[in-house]
Amino acid sequence: MGRLGGCVNTGSARSRLVSWVVGVSVISMLFATGATACVALPAPAPPQPPDCTDPVCPLAAAARGRGIRVGAAVEADDLISNPAVADAVRRHFTSVTTENALKLSVVRPSPTLWNWGPADTVVAFAETNDLEVRGHTLAWVNESGSQNGLPAWMRDLNDPSEFRTAILDSVSAVVGRYQGRVDRWDVVNELFEYPVGVQAPSAFDRLGPDYVAELFEVAHAADPGAELWLNEVFTEVFPAKGDALVALVSSLRDRGVPIHGVGLQTHLTLSPAAPNPGSVSGLVARLRALGVEVAITEFDVPLGPLRTEQQQVDIYRQVTAECLSAGCTEITVWGVGDAFTTLDTAGQRQNNPLLAAFFSLPSTPLLLDVNLRPKAAYAAVVAALQRTPTPG
Ligand code: XIL
Repeated sequence: MGRLGGCVNTGSARSRLVSWVVGVSVISMLFATGATACVALPAPAPPQPPDCTDPVCPLAAAARGRGIRVGAAVEADDLISNPAVADAVRRHFTSVTTENALKLSVVRPSPTLWNWGPADTVVAFAETNDLEVRGHTLAWVNESGSQNGLPAWMRDLNDPSEFRTAILDSVSAVVGRYQGRVDRWDVVNELFEYPVGVQAPSAFDRLGPDYVAELFEVAHAADPGAELWLNEVFTEVFPAKGDALVALVSSLRDRGVPIHGVGLQTHLTLSPAAPNPGSVSGLVARLRALGVEVAITEFDVPLGPLRTEQQQVDIYRQVTAECLSAGCTEITVWGVGDAFTTLDTAGQRQNNPLLAAFFSLPSTPLLLDVNLRPKAAYAAVVAALQRTPTPG
């Protein structure tokens, strides 16, 4: 159903959305029992994919067909408490990312308390259902909104050697525990300052200027078979961040640091505009030329007055196709379905004023709707998976 601008509910009463399909367009009007100013706007109706009741749905089938992963960020509680979520993950995706379960704030909330339950649940679920696991994330560098995944007690360790011991022991313990079971780790997350490509000031500076290399070495020692990734945000809007990523990865590779992949988060929350054509494929190609894998790791495309559902569909198709055409090996969305997006939470909207300014609440940014049914964006990603040629 098209979400349309133009209707303003000025009353406080409960509203309901009624839609008519007229030819190829959907006309929606918001009716409310309170005082409502309502304007009907036509919008193109994106093709709706059929619901999928098969054990393996088109998204997972297309990903397996071309030998890449499609993933979703998940929380253990949602897998446990909601069988529909577990079922949707199992049928539509081939990989899961631990949304919060492996952040040190969850795993090690105090120096003596190790909370493995949530991560164990996600990893066991993946094993039972033949899914891959992306371990997210060992060192979330940028401290905007204090959401960097460090427990308070670690952030407060001002003595560099105590901080070093706490971080490195934790990284070793976490990676070591899941040796052979989690085969990809986001070792370092959001390293660069917004918008420029310089390292963000961070608690991790206490480790010294070469801490990125040190973290990769420690993770590698804990599981020499695991792929180790750097994960970055907003590279599609800030070319300087892409340049900085390329320079850093190049220098790490030259020095023999064990880095195997770069994740582009692709939260498209700063502007309603589509990424510039070629910005995703260009960066993916430059990174791959350095010998690393590249993935989209946290895809979401929220709707707002300046971004319609059709534009959401087109952006999902464009970005997925660009990434695949340049050789991406994974496309992961940040949430199983629209009911689970983090973009609608107060914290995210406070930390990103542009998200709050440009995008609706709810922002319905994902591939499955609130009832976990495939959306038009899902069909677009499937089509991109099926039709995009692989690079020669
Ligand atoms: C978010 C989670 O989705 C939220 O539940 C949590 O409160 C904060 O972190 N970039 C990242 C992810 O790398 O770890 C963030 O996840 C979203 C932005």
